[in-house]
This record gives sequence, structure tokens and C-alpha cells, in this order.
Amino acid sequence: MFGSTVAVIGAGYVGLTTAVCLASLGHRVVCADVDQEKVNALGRGEATIREPGICELVVDGLASGRLEFVLGASAAVAEAEFVILCVPTPMSADGAADLTMLESVVTELRDLLPPGCVVVNKSTVPVGTATHVGELLDRADVSVASNPEFLREGSAVYDFLNPDRIVIGVAGEDRTAAERVAGLYGKVDAPVLLTDSASAEMIKYAANCYLATRLSFVNTIAELCEYLDANIDDVTSGVGHDVRIGHAFLRPGPGWGGSCLPKDTIALVRTAESVGSDFPLLRAAIEANLRHQERVVDKVRKAVGGDLAGVRIGLLGLTFKAGTDDLRDSPALAVAERLAAEGAELLGYDPSVHAPVPGVTDRVRIAGSAYHAANGADAIVVLTEWPEFRALDWPRIAARLGGRAVIDTRNHLDPLVLRRAGLSYQGNGRAAAPREGLELLPIAG
Ligand code: UGA
Repeated sequence: MFGSTVAVIGAGYVGLTTAVCLASLGHRVVCADVDQEKVNALGRGEATIREPGICELVVDGLASGRLEFVLGASAAVAEAEFVILCVPTPMSADGAADLTMLESVVTELRDLLPPGCVVVNKSTVPVGTATHVGELLDRADVSVASNPEFLREGSAVYDFLNPDRIVIGVAGEDRTAAERVAGLYGKVDAPVLLTDSASAEMIKYAANCYLATRLSFVNTIAELCEYLDANIDDVTSGVGHDVRIGHAFLRPGPGWGGSCLPKDTIALVRTAESVGSDFPLLRAAIEANLRHQERVVDKVRKAVGGDLAGVRIGLLGLTFKAGTDDLRDSPALAVAERLAAEGAELLGYDPSVHAPVPGVTDRVRIAGSAYHAANGADAIVVLTEWPEFRALDWPRIAARLGGRAVIDTRNHLDPLVLRRAGLSYQGNGRAAAPREGLELLPIAG
């Protein structure tokens, strides 16, 4: 017994996750992509992205007959009650979201959509796009909804099936369409927010831009902690206990990156400009992010005696965060670029990067292990919070290093372990002298 019949257009991170999760919820899903090799691989049960749980759901979906992969959007929609658009919306030259792919899919499907179906936009798109899609379709018998995704890479399947909230926006008063989209998530336990499409689209941008701003803020507090000999671990703990603030998304780092936050922050600044407004706060968050990357370079330069030319640096972590193999807009690579521009020789290790990626990792020689990256290095820089870095044999690393400095941009390592190994540890906003963390003491009586 199947639920609804759903076409998912695009089998990237968002599309594939959406397709396999909806199939796991009992829907009949046809997922389309323009890449024949990808479609073939998925049809054989091979996951094309690295995401915990996704491979199992691809295999289960195919075996149950509820999941199918086809080439091209047109091949997916013949029986669709819902068409979910998950095509890329990359950044165009002026920073605004490029809707070319979305528009071409909508035009391709216009005359093929069955009457009564709902076109659902899941891609991150500028406010007003659902209305624009409705105009492009020009079909009174088809509804358009916005249902933004809030999936973090590395936990996309979990986030889809356990969302904090489900947001559904529709144009006009089409409450029936909104309730039908909500029905797709019937088995998921989460608050469902029904709103208009512009608000739904704004919720997605506001969430990502708020998270980016929060990180720029916390990275700046970490910087100040260094000047003032305060300890960011204690500060974020103390601040996060305020229930109005909370603990999540308060970890300092080498700047925020990835395929979403950088693109969405710039796009919202452009959106503000396009309506004759301005978003100085968000512009400052973007600028601060670049400054925090530079701050890492300053620290490395200082640690090796003031000049990076000819100096060898071992980089631990190249992806934009741990738990993914994604190098897009990785702050680690931005830092590498800046170090290389000053003449540093870079040897980098990342558990998910096994070979050079042309045009992406060109500035870094890829090492086979963290120990290899340390060979003869004047300093080590930790850029991604892979758990295995904590478990490294640090005395063994110390024995291979030429210099002593370890710069931990994520505050991921235990300073005492490194200091015991004879290394000179520098965290990000951690007080120079080691001390115990903030304790919450029960008050007697
Ligand atoms: C982000 C959002 O978190 C998702 O909700 C959203 O759906 C997604 O973008 C999207 O628009 O598709 P993601 O790009 O996977 O997800 O990455 P995050 O986990 O948000 O991390 C973004 C950056 O912030 C990374 O560079 C990460 O290392 C950094 N970060 C995150 C920190 O430096 N500190 C933190 O405490 C958290």
C-alpha cells in the first residue's frame, strides 16, 4: 500500500535525501536527475553522496518498489500528485541566486504536470520565487508551495526524519494545497507551520543568515577573549545556559563555510539591495568571516617567526566541517589559499579526502595520514573537527614536527595532552594558561 505519488526533481544532497526519506515514509517516489551516470549508480543501489543512512534507504527504497530513479524531469511526473523541485540555485556573478536551472525545469514540466498536482519548491530560492514559478507555469489546475529544507550535511537523513519544524508556504489562500503537502510528513513528529510562500522562503534565508551572524559574533568574542585572557569555552558555556540563547551553534572556528551559509548570506544582502534597502549587520557578518580566516593566518605567521615563505605547514582537516567530504567554500581551503599566497608549503590530511581534487585542493599536497602531514612541518593547523584528531598519538606527531606550534582553530583538542607532548598549543579564544573549565556547582539548601 503506497502513500502519495511524488516526483523529486534533482538527486543532489537535498533531492536524494528527500526522495529516499519520503520513500521510507511510505510514498511512491520517482527521482529524476540530468546526470545519466548518477541515475545509473542510484538505480544499482549505490549512494552518490556521503550521508549517514542514505545508502541503506536507497537500497530499501529500490527493494520495496517505492523508489525509482529516472533520467530527466519529464520522465518523472506523469502520475505525480506532488513535484518537489530540488535543483541547484548557485550564486550568480552578482551574488544573487541563479534561478536558470529552476526556471528551465518549470518550463520543461509546464505542459506535462497532471491536473491537481502541487509543485513544491525545496531549493533555497529568493523570496517571491513561488509566485514566479506559478506565473511561469500559468496553470490554474496546479498549486505551488514552498517547503524549505533545513538539512545539515552529515545529518541530512536524521534532520529530514526528525525536523525541528516543517514550514509550508502557499501562494494566496490555497490552504488545501498546504495541508496536502503537510500530509506527506504525516508520520514525522514535528510542529508544522503553514504560512504564505514569501514568508516560508524568508524563513529559510533568515535561519541560515542568523546562524552565520551568530558564528561571526562568537568568533569575534573568541578573538576578544584572546586579547583579554578570558576563556571562550567558559564564555560560550555561560552564555549558552541562557535559555533565550542556547548552546547550539556557538563553537568558534576558522570561519563558517559550506555550500549554503556563504551563498545565502550574500544572496540576502543582494535581495535587500534589490528592494532599495540594506542589511549592514549581515554585510558585517560576512566581512568578519573573512577577517577570522585572516586571523588564523596571522597566528600561523607569528608562530613560525613572522614569515611564511618556504615554511612547511601541516593542515589537519580540509572539508568545511567534519562528517562530510564536501570541500565547497571550505574555510580550511580559504585559509590554505592565504597561507600558500605568502609562500607556505602545505601538506594536508583529511579523513574524507584521499586524492587531490583539481582546481580545489591545488594549493595543498594531500597526505595519507595526519602523521604524514606532520613530517618536518614547522607548524600544524587544525581546521576541521574530525573526532579522530583527538585520538592521534600526539607524542608521535611531536617527534615528526620540525617546529612546536599547533594551532587549533576549532578548540577541538585537549591542550593538556598537547602540552604534555611538548607542543606549543594555541586554541581559538582559549586562555593562554591551561585551567579547568567552568563548573556548575549545586547550591546546598
Ligand atoms: C546549513 C544549515 O545548518 C542547515 O539548516 C541548512 O538546511 C543548510 O545549511 C542548507 O541551507 O542547505 P550545512 O551547510 O550542512 O547546513 O552546515 P552547518 O552545520 O550549518 O555548518 C556551517 C558552517 O558553520 C560550517 O563551516 C561549520 O563548521 C560552521 N560552524 C557550525 C561553526 O564554525 N561552529 C558551529 O558551532 C557550528
